[in-house]
Amino acid sequence: MPDFELGKFIRQLRDAALEADAREKVRELMHDMFQDPEAIKAAMPVYENDDELLFEDDSISIWNVRFPPGTHVPPHDHQTTATIGVYDGAEDNHFYLREPGQLVYKTSRRVGPGDVIALKPDGIHSVEAADGKPCRGIHVYLAALTSIERSLFDWNSGVACRYTDENYELMKRVSA
Ligand SMILES: [Fe+2]
Repeated sequence: MPDFELGKFIRQLRDAALEADAREKVRELMHDMFQDPEAIKAAMPVYENDDELLFEDDSISIWNVRFPPGTHVPPHDHQTTATIGVYDGAEDNHFYLREPGQLVYKTSRRVGPGDVIALKPDGIHSVEAADGKPCRGIHVYLAALTSIERSLFDWNSGVACRYTDENYELMKRVSA
């Protein structure tokens, strides 16, 4: 795929989200574009906010996400397919399953420059920047994420609560 241009990439993602096989189309686009993470890093603005909404409509929500070192984002779901590509630094993704009365840790994956992962709507992960360095990536959701009701999960019991800024602040951890 040619050089990265944010506006064009957003248009391509928007078109892909309208296809019948949107999940696969978005994943292909992300994989192709993230083959050259340096090109993305060079082209992306440095945003003031950690979470910067780049585009959203009913079919897609596209974000630039920066994870600052030291904060461990609590376990949560997305209630829609999430496709995540990293272009700067690395994020450690920890995956969980809910079992009666507990949240069970399953596995972890480090997602570094050029890597793309996809999570199913009910997939649960917690996320933190790796190696004490900030991490930046593009996160794509196949719905209007800002209006979706989704959950945070208690680190131990797995009890769900609404994903709100207030609950997020109460449940976030300092990275080990
Ligand atoms: Fe997430």
